[in-house]
Amino acid sequence: MNIRALAAKVLNQVVEQGQSLSQALPSAQQDLNPKDKALLQMLCYGVLRTLPRIDFFCRSLMQKPLKGKQRELHFLILVGFYQLLYTRIPSHAAVGETVNGAKALKKQALKGMINGVLRNFLREQEGLIEKADQQDTLKYCHPSWLVKRLQQAYGEQQAATIMTENNQQAPMWLRVNQTHHNREQYQQLLSEATLPSIVASDTENSNALRLEKATDVYKLPGFTEGWVSVQDGAAQLAAHYLGAQADELILDACAAPGGKTVHALELQPAIKQMVAVDADANRLTRVEENLARLNLKATVIHGDASQPDTWWQGEQFDRILCDAPCSATGVIRRHPDIRWLRRDSDIAELVALQKSILSALWKKLKPGGVLLYATCSILPDENEQQVQRFLESQSDATLIPLSEQYNSVEHGRQLLPNEDAMDGFYYAKLQKAK
Ligand SMILES: C[S@@+](CC[C@H](N)C(=O)[O-])C[C@H]1O[C@@H](n2cnc3c(N)ncnc32)[C@H](O)[C@@H]1O
Repeated sequence: MNIRALAAKVLNQVVEQGQSLSQALPSAQQDLNPKDKALLQMLCYGVLRTLPRIDFFCRSLMQKPLKGKQRELHFLILVGFYQLLYTRIPSHAAVGETVNGAKALKKQALKGMINGVLRNFLREQEGLIEKADQQDTLKYCHPSWLVKRLQQAYGEQQAATIMTENNQQAPMWLRVNQTHHNREQYQQLLSEATLPSIVASDTENSNALRLEKATDVYKLPGFTEGWVSVQDGAAQLAAHYLGAQADELILDACAAPGGKTVHALELQPAIKQMVAVDADANRLTRVEENLARLNLKATVIHGDASQPDTWWQGEQFDRILCDAPCSATGVIRRHPDIRWLRRDSDIAELVALQKSILSALWKKLKPGGVLLYATCSILPDENEQQVQRFLESQSDATLIPLSEQYNSVEHGRQLLPNEDAMDGFYYAKLQKAK
C-alpha cells in the first residue's frame, strides 16, 4: 500500500467523517511494518497539526476544491504539502510518492493534476507562507473559536505560546509502579536498556519519568509484568493529590481507561475498596486490562456519574476523583484531531455535564470527605469558573490545598500545555464540611 494514499484515507475519515484519530489510525496501521507505521503516523499527525495552513495553500493553488469522490485526493495533496514543508523527505521523493498515491486511490487520471499542484507549490510557497502568517488561525493552526477563547482567557501573547506548544510533539511519560521498584531503580533499568529518561521536575510527581525518545511499550523493562505504565506527568499528579489513605472507600467516577484508578491503587494498596465507574462500556474494558496487567483489584461499574443512584452501593465515599469529561484542550499536542472535531457549542454542553456530575457526586461524599475535580482542559469555564460556581452554590464545600507541596488554594491549579513538559490539566480539591 502507498503510505501517502493511506494517510489521505485516514485524514478523510477524521476530518470529513468525524472519526477520532485514535480510532482511524490503528486500523490503518494494522498490517504495516514498523517503519511504514511510523511514517503513516507522522503524516497523519503532521497534517492535522497544520491543517488550516496547508488547506489554505491548496485553496490558493487550485481553481476548484476537490469534492465528493475526489475528496481523498484533496488530503493526498495536503500530505504532499506537509512533506515538502515540514519533513526532511527530499522534494523529488515527496512529490513522486504522493503522485503515485493517486494510483493507489484509483484516480490514476489525476496524477498529472496532483503533480502540477505540488510543483506550483514549490514555486510559490514563499508568498503563500507570508500570506498565511497574517492570520492567527493559519499562523497557529487552531480553529477561530478556540483562538478567540484562548486569547480571551490568557491574552494574545500567552495564547500564542499555548498554541505553539499545542503544535509540538508530546514526550512519552512513564509512571513507575512503586510496588515493584522505586523511580531511581527503574531509571537504571531503562538506562541499561539504552532508554535514557529524565526525572519529573515537580517533587511531588515521585513516580514520573520522561523518556528522551518515545519507544514501543514492549521495549520497556517489565511492561507486561506491570512494572511501569505510560501516563503523562500532569495526569500522574491526580493520585498524589487525591491522597487515598488505608481503609478508605474511594470512587473514581469517570475512570476509563483507568490510568488514575490504578495509580491510586499503586500508591495506596491498603484502601478498603476502589469503585471505578464510567459511562462508556467499551472504554471500561481498558480499565479491566489495566487492572489485570498491574494485578490490582477494583469494583468496575458501567454507570452514569450524574445519576449515582442507579449504581451507588449505599455507603458514602471518603474520597472521590471526578476526572470529568471535558474539551481536552490541554492535550491537543497528543490528539491533534481534537481541535477539528470539537465545536464551540460543545463547551457549554460539557460545562453543564460537569456541573451535573459534580453536584450529583457531592451527595455521595462523606462529611469531611474530599473530592478532587480534574480536567485535561485549559478553558477557565470548565475549570476555575466551574469550581467557583460550585463553591457559590454549595455552602458545605471548601476549596483546600491540593497537597502540602502545592498549597495555594486560590483557584486550584491550572497547568498549561508543555509546562514542565506536561499536558495541560486542571486540579481543584474540595472538602465537605463535617
Ligand atoms: C478524561 S476521561 C477519564 C480518564 C481517566 N480518569 C484516566 O485517567 O484514565 C473522561 C471519562 O469520562 C467518561 N464519561 C463521560 N460522561 C460520563 C458520565 N456521565 N458518567 C461517567 N463517565 C462519563 C468518558 O467515557 C471518559 O472515559
